[in-house]
Amino acid sequence: MNISPSLIALNNIYSEYLKIIIILGTLGVLIGIALHYLLIGPNAKKLGQLKPDLKRLTLLERVTHFIRMISCIFLTITGLGFAILNFNSIGISYKPVYNIHILFAMLFGLSSLVSLIIWFKDSFFQRYDWQWFKVMGGYLTRKEIHPPSGKFNAGQKAFYWYSTLLSILIITSGYILVYNESFSLEALIWATIIHGLGSIALIAGVIAHAYLGSFANPGTIGTIFHGKVAKEWAKSHHPNWYQELR
Ligand code: HEM
Repeated sequence: MNISPSLIALNNIYSEYLKIIIILGTLGVLIGIALHYLLIGPNAKKLGQLKPDLKRLTLLERVTHFIRMISCIFLTITGLGFAILNFNSIGISYKPVYNIHILFAMLFGLSSLVSLIIWFKDSFFQRYDWQWFKVMGGYLTRKEIHPPSGKFNAGQKAFYWYSTLLSILIITSGYILVYNESFSLEALIWATIIHGLGSIALIAGVIAHAYLGSFANPGTIGTIFHGKVAKEWAKSHHPNWYQELR
């Protein structure tokens, strides 16, 4: 078989260190979050006690995000199972887990495509986003800092592009792995590595994203369920968007 020696070496390194990369990727983010919460704490805590009275996310945005969130959770559990467990030795049959993975992969693909479309316009960087990056959104200080921000701040826009790019890589490589008879061995090795590393990078990003959308920013999490935030929350966290609404 005509496979380049460097690709074989890369595949060997990947297989050997996969479990360590998974542990470093997930535990690293969890430790970072715990340290941030203990040393810096939540941003503008008082905003979490106000009544949500301003519409922020439409039903379509919420349903799409919910499907993407749930499918990502199931894909993570089943995917980590494939990477870490030996199904036969613990008495779980592989096929049903594989079918669940494929079902949620389709839901994830569909919801990622809809997210890409509906949030495309809100995720374009503006000149004022530099000010957010310069102070890292105020996340590295206990002082309350509220840099300019549209519907999404610069960090959220970065996460939109990060999750979009990784979703495309993971879905494409997953497709190659499912229809493996139609592809060369080289393509399958690349697909395996991209699918694995891309998924770990997305899981780590989603853990950080879930923290920023909940404990780190009181008053935010409700928007993915009922779609509303408090006016004061909008004025502080997304001043440019609030101005546009008015
Ligand atoms: C796992 C639990 C999750 C939680 C708790 C969560 C929480 C949130 C919240 C509260 C918002 C609204 C933020 C706002 O209105 O300012 C949001 C938006 C968003 N979510 Fe999630 N989410 C989760 C999973 C995911 C997943 C799996 C993806 C994609 C793979 C994702 C992608 C996005 C994107 C692109 C946005 C808009 C931009 C942003 O806020 O970063 N979320 N999420």
